[in-house]
Parts: sequence; structure tokens; C-alpha cells
Amino acid sequence: MKTTTEIRSDFLEFFRGKAHTIVPSAPLVPANDPTLLFTNSGMVQFKNVFLGSEKPGYVRAADVQRCLRAGGKHNDLDQVGYTARHHTFFEMLGNWSFGDYFKEDAITWAWELLTKVWGLPAERLTVTVYHTDDEAYAIWNKKIGVPAERIVRIGDNKGAPFASDNFWQMADTGPCGPCTEIFYDHGAHIAGGPPGSPDEDGDRFIEIWNLVFMQFDRQPDGTLEPLPAPCVDTGMGLERLAAVLQGVHGNYEIDLFRHLIAKAAEFTSTADLDNKSLRVIADHIRACAFLIVDGVLPSNEGRGYVLRRIIRRALRHGWMLGQKGPFFHRMVAPLVEVMGDAYPELTAKREFVERALLAEEERFAETLDAGMRIFDEVAARSNTTIPGVDAFRLYDTYGFPVDLTADIARERGLSVDMAGFEAAMEQQRETARAAGKFGNAATMPAELAAQLAPTQFLGYEQLSDEGLEIVALLKNGRAVDRIEAGEEAAVILDRTPFYAESGGQVGDTGDLEAGDARFAVRDTVKFAGQFHGHVGTLASGSLKRGDRIRATVDTVRRAATVLNHSATHLLHSALRSVLGDHVVQKGSLVAPDRLRFDFSHFAPVSAGELAEIERRVNAEIRRNHAAEVHHMGMQEALDFGAMALFGEKYGDNVRVLRMGDTSTELCGGTHVSRTGDIGLFKIVSEGGVSAGVRRIEALTGQGALDFVAEEEHRLDEAARLLGGNAADVSDKLRSLLDRQKKLERELESLKAKAASGATSDLASSAAQVAGVKVVATRLEGFDAKALRDAVDRLKQQMGDAVIVLAGASEGKAALVAGVNGSAAGKVKAGELLAHVASRINGKGGGRPDMAQGGGDDGPALVQVLAEVPAWVESKLG
Ligand code: ALA
Repeated sequence: MKTTTEIRSDFLEFFRGKAHTIVPSAPLVPANDPTLLFTNSGMVQFKNVFLGSEKPGYVRAADVQRCLRAGGKHNDLDQVGYTARHHTFFEMLGNWSFGDYFKEDAITWAWELLTKVWGLPAERLTVTVYHTDDEAYAIWNKKIGVPAERIVRIGDNKGAPFASDNFWQMADTGPCGPCTEIFYDHGAHIAGGPPGSPDEDGDRFIEIWNLVFMQFDRQPDGTLEPLPAPCVDTGMGLERLAAVLQGVHGNYEIDLFRHLIAKAAEFTSTADLDNKSLRVIADHIRACAFLIVDGVLPSNEGRGYVLRRIIRRALRHGWMLGQKGPFFHRMVAPLVEVMGDAYPELTAKREFVERALLAEEERFAETLDAGMRIFDEVAARSNTTIPGVDAFRLYDTYGFPVDLTADIARERGLSVDMAGFEAAMEQQRETARAAGKFGNAATMPAELAAQLAPTQFLGYEQLSDEGLEIVALLKNGRAVDRIEAGEEAAVILDRTPFYAESGGQVGDTGDLEAGDARFAVRDTVKFAGQFHGHVGTLASGSLKRGDRIRATVDTVRRAATVLNHSATHLLHSALRSVLGDHVVQKGSLVAPDRLRFDFSHFAPVSAGELAEIERRVNAEIRRNHAAEVHHMGMQEALDFGAMALFGEKYGDNVRVLRMGDTSTELCGGTHVSRTGDIGLFKIVSEGGVSAGVRRIEALTGQGALDFVAEEEHRLDEAARLLGGNAADVSDKLRSLLDRQKKLERELESLKAKAASGATSDLASSAAQVAGVKVVATRLEGFDAKALRDAVDRLKQQMGDAVIVLAGASEGKAALVAGVNGSAAGKVKAGELLAHVASRINGKGGGRPDMAQGGGDDGPALVQVLAEVPAWVESKLG
């Protein structure tokens, strides 16, 4: 039997022998390709090679590529667990020709590998070709000798031109072409017919290898442009092939999955190895572990949300098996056992992956149980459909992704009202928008926006200018022609040196002046994404539309802001180099007095890591890189290595800021001219913002120096108080603490002595009632514990005794009563205590020999204590 490990290496060796370069698997997150959520096939990393914009230095390649089909064009998440062959994550064996060999070699070698190397019987194989591809047909029939009855032509069977099982495309746009597919016949004992037949959806004929003849680049409008050169792209699912070569029918029966399923069964204490939930867990651990290896962490948007959905789906299946505690992260170890050799990056990041999964497990554990109860309630009153509002409540309050709810619903024969869910979601977005900070502040009438040209920003080069024209004045969001002294307004100019808040950098402040009119700019915000609105108050004079003015930015404030902005870029790059590539910017604030940077990372950043990050940023500052600005096309920027935030919208022409070899980012903000300008970078805090998102706050320039000086001052102050200098503060403090501990111990023992002295005095002044000693007294400042100790001591000192002590403090009295020796049996401590308490608005009780309670301090207490000997006498008599 061939193991999956042997199959991987057989494949690569075969193509190495045909002069192919063996390349490593690319990550699941495609590099710089915003059109694609995940690597969904082997050709993704070669997209630009097909398009001709990248030349890799070889014309033949082969690899084993990890792929994910969850979210995006190819999405199999919903099928996993229900069929024998769907996966979220799978491995694709592929070989490529980039303008080198074409149909004939591709087909010949595929046949040779399957039938000669792996010895599959030719009569078990059936092939398909695109209906017009006579060339491929002839190669199969004439050269290879596949009989006509086992070659099937497939046309456009998916409802549009070139929409066919035999016309492959990576995404809605990009490289595509006709393909030929090889099917394996699992045998007549399994239902199903050959491809193209009415029974083709059965499980008997399984596609194992797809050979695509890449010839076109599909445009957004649907037209097909020819590629610079015809190419070959093949893909063979490792799991399906392993099933064939291992003589099993379902993918989940192959060696690799058997191991994972056995472990999943162990971790969930499940006896039935055929339980479909085990298959789901075994599938999902592969997707989740590799997503995390490739830099994705669970979150509420984009790729992070796909990951979260897969993890939560796995956890729900564990839950169904009765496993309510964290278990999923334990699957990483068996995964490393079966895949670690082929993917060293998995082995390297094992611990990181485990921690990330455990964190998500703990998070979902808080709501899974409660959410399932809600689901059951809703399901009980729904006939066929779970209402959208309920699905939304499960999503919003209990963290159930809607496809998870749909999955659970499906098991009960129900569906989810998706339109209703979307509507509830949209309503929430609306509410959030209405409440948003700039929801109103930065709006302007649409007619006005349509008339004006976008504000031209001068502030990269200059901080003041004159002769600028007022093109609009806004009061309370409405256009006006004129404003008077004392009025609040937003002024829009044709050009301005004022930076408007965006990309985290705060807006500029400063002055606008014309004659005796002076407008104090409190903030600059962007209206409709393109107009700089100078928001503030007219201090004197009046201003009208059309006036020419002088604009002066507060240079000190701007200069300080700029240091923080450039430092933010250096911080971003240091974080990625120290913590890893999973660090992605989640938000930032760049203000004159500080910077704040939010980023994805699931664990607190340790003190050691923070020190290293700070050290690296300062090292880059001292290297004094020039901050270069480049303008270029988006694709060019990505090729240039610029970091772009996934899901952000950038224009066609972007501004790229580069500081030496350390940082290259798309950025519209204002920056230093050399990194040395930043002077000093100092981290002042690190903390969590939400699950998987951390925040660092830091200072630069004079602010950082002031901070250090302030710390130094505090240290000196502490040293002075300790009677030493900064260098020996910790020694002094340590000896002070030791001394304090010693004194505390002394104090304790003195207190104990004093207390036992006090009780001896009490014992000697006890009343005698029928041979029993009675003590009933009020003690200032004793708490319940001190009273109990005193009662215990008195019992020992007095022998036959009845004791009740009241500890008075702040108008209240704690009571403890005790009975010892011959009095026991006749006098009960609980009764005595209840008696005393009842007279002072209190209560209490306890055992016959010891009781406690409390009530009010005051004359009634003194009175009832004085009467205790008589009460005791009445009991003993
Ligand atoms: N890119 C082709 C596929 O994924 C080979 O099927």
C-alpha cells in the first residue's frame, strides 16, 4: 500500500525526472492578490507567470500545494461531513508548463505516472475533453489508445459560454482554459455513471486528475484575452488519489485521515469511528492549523472570519459528541505527526497554532452551550424555517456564524431565513452608522460635493500658503455664503496645506486669515472622501465664499504628529519581524502627543518582546533612512513589496512610503524626511483590545524624552525617600521590605501575647454561678476572629465555663459565645447567643459549644451582658 507520504514523493520524483523544478507549497493566503481569498489550487502562486508579468527562471515546475476551498468562488465548507470526498483543506499535486510543453506531453506523462508508475489498470480510467478540443481527443484516442467509448466530450454544461466542467478558471477573472479530466472507476458495486451520463453524480466514477490547457485571461466583462503563451496547469487531489491507491473508496479512509479520526475519537471519547462529526473535526483541523500557520487568526471579518467559522463548526461537532471542554487544539499534535515532514512550517509553528486554537475554544465555550439552548427553543417553535431575527441573535449574542446555524438547522430538517438574517444585519449596520462619530460631522450636501473639484493637498511640501480660495462654507452641514465672527463653521478651500484626518493621522489645526478675519481651525476632516473641511470658529471679522485667504498650519503640532506617523510604520515592521507575519495592522491613531497601534496577535506581548521591538525601532531610527515617497500603479506597488491592508480600497494610483529596507507601505499621510528625525521611540503600554487584537501605545521625539525624564525623576524621588541613589534603589527597597516583614511578625506575636494577657484578666474576673465561671463582656475593637480566639483561650484557661464576648466597632457588635466543661448540656452556646442578639436587634446561632452572630452596640448590649450570669443561673438551676 502506498502511504500519502510516498505518493507525494513519487509524484515529485516523477516530474523531477521530466526536468521539472520542484517548488514548495505557497501559503494559503495568496501573496498580494486581493481578488482571491485563499489559495484554492496549485496554480495560484503562478498566476502572474501565466499572465506574463513574472518570470520565475524555469519553464517547468511541480509541487504539492496546500489548498483551501472555504469562502470565495470555490466553497466546500457546507459539504464537509456529508459526503465521502469534500474537504475544506486538501493537497493538490500539480505540474506546470509555462509556454513550454503543451497538451501532448501533459497527457502522455499523466498516463505514464498513473498506469506505469502506480500501475492503475487502463480499463478503469475514463477521460473527458472540452467539446471542441479535437486535439486533446486525438491524443487520447490515437496516441494513448484510450477507446472512443471511454472519452467523453463535455460542452458548456453550466449555463453560459465557457462555463463547463471542462473549462477551468481560478476565479471570476484571470487565467483559464479548456481541460481534460481523468476519472477512476471504483467498480460496478458502487452506484453512479460515467461523466456526462445522467448518473454522473453518483460515487462510482471519481475525477482524480485535471489537466488544464491555460490559454486565456478572463476580463471583468467576461471576454477572453489570449495569454502571452499557452501553458499547462494540472491538479490532482492527493486524498482522492490516495483512496484509489490504497484500495478504499472514501477519502476519509486513507492512512492520514484514519490517524486524525482515531485521535479525534480519543479526544472526544467517541467509540464509533464512523461518526461523521469525527470526519468534520479531522478535516477542519487541517484547514485551521494551516490558516494559522499562514498568518490568519480568528476574527470577525475577511479571512479571519472564515477561520473562525471553521473552528466553531469543529467545536460544535465536538460538542455534539459530548466534548464540552477544549479539545480541538490537541488535534495539532497528531496533525504534525502525519503532515509535519511534508510541511516543516507546520512543525515550526505548532505551539503557536495550539495556543491560537485554545484561545478561540475558550472564547466560544462561553456562549456555545447557551446558544444551543436558544437554538433548541427557536427550533421547537419553527416548522420549516429558523427566522432571520433569531439567526441574527445567535450570531450577534452567541457568536454563531450564520452558516453554523444553517448547518445545525439542516440536521433537524430546517432551513434559515437568510434574507431575514441579512436584513437584521443591515439594520444593525445602519444603527451603528447613525451612531458613528463622523456620521454627521463629515457630511456635506451631495449637490455641493458634485459641483466642487476635490481639494488639492499642498501639505506634503508646505505648511502655509496664501491666495487660497474659499470654495464653500458650511454651517451645521449646510452651504452658506458668509459667516460672521463667533460662528462655528467648516471652510473648504480649493487648495490647502492642512492635512485632513485619515489613515489614523489626526487632522491639522492652525489659522485661516483674510484681512482682519481670523478663523481658528480646531480640526481638519475629510468631507465626502475628497474635500478638506477646516472645522473651527471665526474669531474676528467675516468671511464669504470666494474670499482669498492665507492658511497656516500649527507647525509644532504637525511636526510632532509626523514623527509619530513614521514611527508607526517602523513599529509595524518591527512587530512583524519580532512576533511574526500574522501581525497585521487593525487600526491606528497618530496624534501629536502619542501613537497608538492595534494589531492582530492573540497573546500578550511579553516584556522581553516589547524590549526587542523597541530596540529594533530605535536601531532603524539611528540608521537614518531617507523616507522616500513613490507614486505608482497599485500592481506596481504590490510588486515593489508594499504592504497593503487586505480589504482596504486603494485608488489606481497609490502613494508608497519607503524607509530604507525596513518598511514599505501604501500611505497618504505626512512623514519625516529621515528616520533620524524621530529621535527616540519609547513604548509606554501594551494591552488587549478584543480577542486576538493587541494595542501598543508609544511616544517619540521630545515626548519620549519627557517620558524618560519623568521616569528618571520618579526614580530619584523614590531613591531620595529611601535614603539612597537611583543605582541602589532596589537594594534599599528590598532591605526595607525585609525589615517590614520582620516587624510584622514581631507585631503579630506581641498582639497574641497581649490578647492572651487580656483574656487572663477576664478569666480571673469571671463570675461564679453554681460552680461554673461566667464571662460576659464587651471588648472594644475586636473583630469576629479575635473574639473566637479569645473564647477558645478562655475555655482553656477557665475549664467549666460559659462565655459570651461582644466586639464593638463603629456602632455594631460582633458576638461570640462558648460553653465548656460541666456546663455543657445544660447551657447551649447557640441559645445564649440568640438570647443576647435578640436584645440588640441582632441575630446569630451555632453549635451547643460555640456560636456567633451580631447586632447593635449600645446601652442595651451592656445591659444584656450584665444579666448573662442570671440567665445562666436560670439554666443551671
Ligand atoms: N487548476 C486546476 C484545478 O484546480 C488544475 O483543477
